[in-house]
Amino acid sequence: MKNLVLALDLPDASAALAMAERLRGIVPWMKVGLEVFTAAGPTLVRELKAMGFKVFLDLKFHDIPNTVKGAARSAARLGVDLATLHHAGGERMARAALEGVVEGGGGTMLFAITVLTSQTPAEAGLREEEVPLAVARKAMEAQQWGLAGVVCSGQEAAAVKATVKPGFLCLCPGIRLCDEAAGDDQRRVMTPAKALAAGADFLVVGRPILAAPDPVVAAREVLAAMG
Ligand code: C5P
Repeated sequence: MKNLVLALDLPDASAALAMAERLRGIVPWMKVGLEVFTAAGPTLVRELKAMGFKVFLDLKFHDIPNTVKGAARSAARLGVDLATLHHAGGERMARAALEGVVEGGGGTMLFAITVLTSQTPAEAGLREEEVPLAVARKAMEAQQWGLAGVVCSGQEAAAVKATVKPGFLCLCPGIRLCDEAAGDDQRRVMTPAKALAAGADFLVVGRPILAAPDPVVAAREVLAAMG
C-alpha cells in the first residue's frame, strides 16, 4: 500500500475520528499532531490503532534528553508507529529517545525534523541553494545517531537520498497538487509525483484533503498522483 499519511489537523476527537472513518481502507496512515493531540490525547491514538490505521505521532519532541526519553517511551507503549523529534535537540537527545522506544517495547520509528517546510530559506538562515545540503547534513547525522529517517520537503529529498546510506527514510509534508504554494503557511512545496521521484518514502497531506469538498475524492486524487 502507498505510504500516504493524512494529517488530522482537526479540533477534536469526534472530527478526527469522523474523517478517519471516511478514509478507512483508502489512506493507511493517520498523523496525530499538536492540535488534535492536545485536544484528544492518547485515547485518539488508541482508537485510530483499533480502526486499523498506522499512526504517526507528530509532536516534534525537543527537550532535555531525559524528558524526550520518557516521551518516546510513552509513544512506544501507546503503539505509535512513527514519531518525530527535532534534529536541533542533538545527538544525546536523539539517542535518549531511541532508548525510550526500546524501554516502551519498541516498534516506533523515530524521524528527525530538519528544516520546517513552512520556512523560506531566509527564515531558516540559509541561502536558497544551501537548503538541500543543510538538510542532507542533518539527515546524515540523524542516521549516525540511529534514527529511522527525516522529515524534509520534497525539494530536499534527492539531496538526502544521495547522502545517506540505503534504508534511511524521507517523509515529506508540504505536498500540493500543483507546484505553486497555495497561499497558506507552507513555503517549500512539491507535487506528490515529484516528491516520490525525488526519493520521498512517505507523503504527508493535510489541508488539500481535509479542506476539499470531498476528502475521499481528494485522497484518491493524491493516491493517483502517487502512481
Ligand atoms: O495541511 P498541510 O498539508 O500543509 O499539512 C502538513 C502537515 O505536516 C501539518 O500537520 C504539519 O504539522 C506537518 N509538518 C510540516 N512540516 C514539517 C513537519 C510536519 O508541514 N517539517
